[in-house]
Amino acid sequence: MNFFSYLNTFLEKLKSQGLFRENKKEGKLNFILNDYLGLRHRKIELDKLYKLKENLFTSSASPLLGGYSNLKESFCNFLKYLYKKEVLLFNTGYAANLGCLSSLKHINSLTIFVDKLAHASIYDGILLSQKPFFRFRHNDMDHLEYLLKTYSKNYKYLYVVTESIFSMDGDISPIKDLLILKEKYNFVLHIDEAHAFGIYGKNLLGAFEKYKESIDIITITFGKALGSFGSAILSEKSFIDFLINTARSYIYSTHISNLNVFISYLNFLYIRKNRNLHKKLFKNIVYFKRKLKDIKIKSISNNPIQPIFLKDLFKSQKDFKDILEKLKKFKVQIGLIRPPTVPKGKERFRISLRADHSKKDIDELIDILRFLKE
Ligand SMILES: Cc1ncc(COP(=O)(O)O)c(C=O)c1O
Repeated sequence: MNFFSYLNTFLEKLKSQGLFRENKKEGKLNFILNDYLGLRHRKIELDKLYKLKENLFTSSASPLLGGYSNLKESFCNFLKYLYKKEVLLFNTGYAANLGCLSSLKHINSLTIFVDKLAHASIYDGILLSQKPFFRFRHNDMDHLEYLLKTYSKNYKYLYVVTESIFSMDGDISPIKDLLILKEKYNFVLHIDEAHAFGIYGKNLLGAFEKYKESIDIITITFGKALGSFGSAILSEKSFIDFLINTARSYIYSTHISNLNVFISYLNFLYIRKNRNLHKKLFKNIVYFKRKLKDIKIKSISNNPIQPIFLKDLFKSQKDFKDILEKLKKFKVQIGLIRPPTVPKGKERFRISLRADHSKKDIDELIDILRFLKE
């Protein structure tokens, strides 16, 4: 069998299991985007950017070879002022986590503890670090403590990484318990705030804004609540300098464009002034949860990410292909999340609520869920 025939066989198998993935365009009414505040179609005045006389659409090089800029420096300074941490801009959240965690390769006698449901970018970074790692059961601090107790004596440095708001379940890490364990076991704590940055906190710095001084490393992304693209790692100067010198996704890639940094910066300032967007989003969450309760479907999340587990919706096991066929007939787009993104048995519709959804939009979604429910 030649290489491409092999691939076709591989893909046919995915198709037969209903696990084949395809690109999807944004539909008119959808619950699949992470643009929680509805900023993606906001008109941005680009004149100001032209006046900056910066390279606009490409950075033309790695940040180490001229791809950095005054605009980037000023956005970093603003974030630094808010977080009281040094800031490093990456192209995406994926590149940030990949670069950050893979750099741990250079630290002797280090081991990593990670929440089982952490994002793929965290796992990929860990795998590249080639460090031993232990997975604790999702948000289970007793299990984390058990692992820390059992394995900490073999290593000098312990590194715990998890998310604040989980990307697929929409639930939240028990930060107070994490900090108690941190005190006891003296680990480095890394929190990915991808889905909380721009949404939570007095200054919109994330779900754990209040605890930011006790968190050693924070990931934020601009492709979700900021309606833009890009990301940053925030930490102490020594860690940021360490990343500049070791993070391969930072060093060996053309840096994020000034255009994206400008949009991220402007949108961040905009949402800090326009808190009505957040009010609208949270009203939508309350409304959706109320309607969901009316049709007797459980919701475990109080956040924009609302998982609806297939096992709660259907009495019998369903073929993914049938579900996908059914979904195609609706004019409302909802995401079906399957393995390997989520474990077997945890397949779900991932509903992503936004500030620009109307009550009528949510009613249409509820009608579909009512129709699908057995
Ligand atoms: C928790 C988490 N971290 C990182 C990322 C990656 O961010 P980006 O889309 O900017 O690459 C995601 C993306 O969904 C995420 O959910």
